[in-house]
Amino acid sequence: MTTAIIYASTHNGNTEKLVKAIADKHPDVTLIDATTSKEVDLSKYDVVCFASGIYAGKFHQSVLNFASVNLPQDKDVFFIYTSAMNTDFTKSIKKVLERKNATVLGRFMRKLLILCKYTP
Ligand SMILES: Cc1cc2nc3c(=O)[nH]c(=O)nc-3n(C[C@H](O)[C@H](O)[C@H](O)COP(=O)(O)O)c2cc1C
Repeated sequence: MTTAIIYASTHNGNTEKLVKAIADKHPDVTLIDATTSKEVDLSKYDVVCFASGIYAGKFHQSVLNFASVNLPQDKDVFFIYTSAMNTDFTKSIKKVLERKNATVLGRFMRKLLILCKYTP
């Protein structure tokens, strides 16, 4: 089953580490960085995942824009996010998908917060 993971990870790279670990184990997963990719044909993928750090309660704007522009109708989708709080942060992405008739398969979240990096 082919899967596209569209992701943005602009703070500490937490989300990127997660999706890269998944892609390393699963050759049928394609990673697409939403901050650098604008128009991509997603029709060839069986499942589409949107992955993001959470910023002010939302998925990164590049992921929201990417979903709005590129997600075809009637796709199976799921969500991955990393955040400081263990909360359902899928409202922003679900709002974008309202017009897409997408089927949400589920969500995976990981609580991760690195406030500062220690420099001796
Ligand atoms: C500007 C900013 C805003 C954030 N807002 C939230 C938030 O509203 N809720 C939350 O739980 N975490 C918030 N966080 C924590 C990040 O979601 C968390 O560190 C995440 O793992 C960052 O993902 P990334 O390293 O892939 O960018 C925020 C972090 C930053 C830098």
